[in-house]
Amino acid sequence: MNLTELMMRRRSCRKFTDEKLTADEIHELKRVALCAPTSKNCRSWEFVFVTDSATIKALSVSKEAGAAFLEEAPLAVVVLADTTKTDVWVEDTSIAATFLQLKAEEMGLGSCWAQMRGRGFADGRSANDIIKALVGAPEQFEVECVIGIGHKAQERNPYTDEKLPFEQTHDNHF
Ligand SMILES: Cc1cc2nc3c(=O)[nH]c(=O)nc-3n(C[C@H](O)[C@H](O)[C@H](O)COP(=O)(O)O)c2cc1C
Repeated sequence: MNLTELMMRRRSCRKFTDEKLTADEIHELKRVALCAPTSKNCRSWEFVFVTDSATIKALSVSKEAGAAFLEEAPLAVVVLADTTKTDVWVEDTSIAATFLQLKAEEMGLGSCWAQMRGRGFADGRSANDIIKALVGAPEQFEVECVIGIGHKAQERNPYTDEKLPFEQTHDNHF
């Protein structure tokens, strides 16, 4: 499968089988995350690969809505950054999270992004504080997202050219 086919095949997967990932599979994901480019090569990102089911369950309720799917995932990757290293850590972490999702697809795994930066609960508790406490991250870190990864328990149609919004691309002028 070439890169374009892989990218068109990647769809968010929120349902996973019980099958665990192997240590080798997790290592492959780590290799790719650590290749992600960063501003001035500052490598502001860090990744917490969570396989502990109690911690994953806690991550799945770390914001009001939209993270429940994590509970089923055998692996949840907390993508966070040292905000003292750069003002563009959102970009750094987002690129790395995307690399992780594409690698997962290449490995035949499913994945989905759970947004955490700027999310939380109506009573003011932030997902960032909750997750940092859960994984023991230092003060200067901020959480961008959690990527749930596992063996797919649902198949979704790949993107096709017919469904792509080419009208949102512009040549020379908007
Ligand atoms: C920045 C970002 C934040 C997202 N946050 C969530 C989320 O909190 N919960 C969720 O279930 N999906 C989340 N998603 C997945 C999107 O809903 C999904 O990518 C989008 O609907 C397009 O579908 P596709 O991934 O199958 O192409 C997020 C995706 C991105 C890129």
